[in-house]
Parts: sequence; structure tokens; C-alpha cells
Amino acid sequence: MLSGKNILLGITGGIAAYKICELVRIYKRANANVKVVCTPNALNFVTKLTLQSLSQNDVATEQFEIDNFKPEHISYADEADIFVIAPATANTISKIANGIADNLLTSIVAAFKKPIIIAPAMNCNMWSNPFVQENLQKLINNGFLTVPPESGFLACGTTGEGRLASLDKIFDKTVEILNCKNKILTGKKVIITAGGTIEDIDPVRYISNYSSGKMGISIADCAYSQGAETILITTKDVVKPYKVIKVKSALEMQQAIFDEFDDTDYIFMAAAVADFRVKNFNEQKIKKTESNEMTIELIKNPDILKSLCDKKANSNSSVKIVGFCAETENLIDYAKAKIKNKGCDYIVANDVSRKDIGFSSDENEVYLIDKNLDVEKFEKQSKALIAEKIIGEVYAKSRNLCNIK
Ligand code: PMT
Repeated sequence: MLSGKNILLGITGGIAAYKICELVRIYKRANANVKVVCTPNALNFVTKLTLQSLSQNDVATEQFEIDNFKPEHISYADEADIFVIAPATANTISKIANGIADNLLTSIVAAFKKPIIIAPAMNCNMWSNPFVQENLQKLINNGFLTVPPESGFLACGTTGEGRLASLDKIFDKTVEILNCKNKILTGKKVIITAGGTIEDIDPVRYISNYSSGKMGISIADCAYSQGAETILITTKDVVKPYKVIKVKSALEMQQAIFDEFDDTDYIFMAAAVADFRVKNFNEQKIKKTESNEMTIELIKNPDILKSLCDKKANSNSSVKIVGFCAETENLIDYAKAKIKNKGCDYIVANDVSRKDIGFSSDENEVYLIDKNLDVEKFEKQSKALIAEKIIGEVYAKSRNLCNIK
């Protein structure tokens, strides 16, 4: 979403500087080119090496480290599309407002002709200091953009206004200014599973189901068009402009999701995972015998969805996990039981007894159920439109998590 955009990220000397390492990653995941400039004081809170590794660029602090014909602050100001200063301390805000350019960061500001976003962060008493407010107002009056701080627990131990705005807000503001708005999953990593798993009996036979993968692939297409770093894990052969991991069995699917799990923001489990696999896979083709009967012993597959929810519960991941529920009767009741048993954040229920929706068809009709067991129906329509509705609603509800018990 930020592909081709050059973001200059300025870090000043406040404790919130440690959060900016994550902001660098968010910008990078949105394909931006990120260069970081720190005030000397910022390096008391974060290291150059961390920021260099995350931004994959040199980190500048010193004004007089000139290695090309242009002074550093001028080339930085020329190259970037936007300058985001986060956290911006009272000291830096006040210097900029008064035209002071006594370090590399403030010198770049003085030479910068494109949008500058200021995200202040400081102790609540410093924030309410009239000189700081006056200086910030001066910046706003001169076209600087701000992402105001929030109220909450502050690093100094008190509670009040002054905490750095959420990284989402800073990112959203950057996207908005760079005219890249309306893509709700920009900077988010999304995993989608699709298709029925294939459980081999012998080299020529297998157990599977009627899932075509269309529902999951529609969700992946939608996530991609909404700017997400999209990873489709599927049993189907597809070529897409995003990452596709081809798997076969439930075990392979589980491994692939676990390998990709870190930093994921949303998981949509639209795959029809076989509940059982063959206990003893036959290396050779099973031969016909005289007997009219044959028994294949099955063993339970792991419940991938449940294992993901357990992994989330035992980590500090904030991934939103969306399960699907395919039933032929008592759809809503079974779906409500599943969201509880599996522990996912949402479940999408569809009736797979109908021929016009569910398995293989191009259309679907679904119910989206959240943890409060609130049910929302999406009437029959193409799977592409259903995917848009699911993603839009899950995104909207997840941004308002306080409503979810
Ligand atoms: O692929 P299509 O032809 O387009 O059809 C779409 C669909 C009907 C397959 C899809 O909309 C759907 O309902 N997918 C879920 C199918 C399913 O396995 O439902 P379930 O109720 O059996 O399982 C509940 C959830 O647990 C699902 O998210 C499933 O992915 C997951 N699961 C199930 C078993 C298992 N061992 N591990 C799992 O993770």
C-alpha cells in the first residue's frame, strides 16, 4: 500500500521511542522505504542497530557525517515524501516552532517542504505546559499535522494525557496524507486457509470433501485488495499476486499456519479440514481381496482452529481468529457452540446442505457470529461480495474490541 513511498521517521528522546521500532516494521510491511533519523537523546532509549536492522537503512543522528556532495539534512529533506516525528518531545516541538535547527532532525525540519506529522509524547504536566501548547499550536497554524497524544498510564508512573497515540493512528494518518486511504488492511498480515484437506489412504486413494476453495480464495483476494500482506494456505493450485502456500493434509496445513503465525493480525479458517486421517498410510496400493468388506482405521486430526486459539491465549498475540462453521442442520446453535468450544473471535456459519450456496457454488449466504453471540446475516450473494462483507465487519468490530466481552 505504501509501495514506492519514502518515509522519513524522526525519533526524539522520550521513553515512547521504544515503540517506534514497531512502527518501522508496520511501515515496512506496507512496503514503504523507511529512513530513520534520531536526535542524540533518542539513542538513550533505542539503539541505532535495532533501527538499522528493522528499517534496512542507515540511521542518521549526526549533522556533520557528510558522505556525498549534499549536506545530509538537505538530501534527507529532498528524498522523503513525508516526515513523521514520533515521539516528539516538548523540547523538539518547541525548538521547531521557534526555527531552531541545532541537530540533524531539527535541521531537516527547517529544510523540509513536504508534509510533516508530529506525534507528541510526554509527561502530562509537560503536555499541559502553556509554552508547549502554544508552540504546538504554532506548528499546526503553519501546516504541520499532528496525531495527538492519548490519556492513560504514563511511563513516569502517573496517569494522564501525554501517552503516544497508538501506532495504528500514526500509520493511518501517514496513509491518509499520502493519499492511500480506504484500504483497511494496509500494514496488516492476514492468513487465509482454503479448500478441503486431502488425507491419503495409499498412493492412489484419499479422503477429502467437496470444498472448492472458492470461499477462502475470495477472502484472500479481498484481503489483498484491501492492502494486507496476504498469505493463502490452500490445497488448491492457484497463482496469485500474493503469497500462496500449497499444502495437502491437515497436518501440513497446521504446520504452514504455525510457521507464519508470528505478527499475524487476522486468520480466516475457511478450509474444510478433515477431522480424521488414515491411521496407517499404505506405502503400496491396497490390493482387492476376496472379502466384500474392507476397514480403514482412522485417527483424529488436530483441531487446527482450536490449536491456533490456544496458541493465541498463551502468547501476547492480538491476532483476530475467524473460524468457519459448515453444518447441514441447527446452523446457528452449532455455530454458537463452536465459537465457545474453539475459542475463536468470530465464526462464519454457512448451510452446506444447500446446493445453491456453501460447497463449490459461486455464491454463499452466511451468518457472522461474534463472542457476544450477536448474529449478523449476509444474504445470498457472490462469494467475492460475502468476502468483502466478512472482512469489513470483522475489521470494524475488531477496532472496537471494548464492545466484545
Ligand atoms: O471451498 P468452498 O467450495 O468455497 O466452500 C466453502 C466452505 C463451505 C468450505 C466454507 O465456507 C466453510 O464453511 N469452511 C469451513 C468448513 C469446515 O471444516 O467446517 P467445520 O464446521 O467442520 O469446522 C469448523 C472450523 O474448524 C473451520 O474453520 C475449520 O477450518 C476448522 N477445523 C475443522 C477441523 C479441524 N480438524 N481443524 C480445523 O481447524
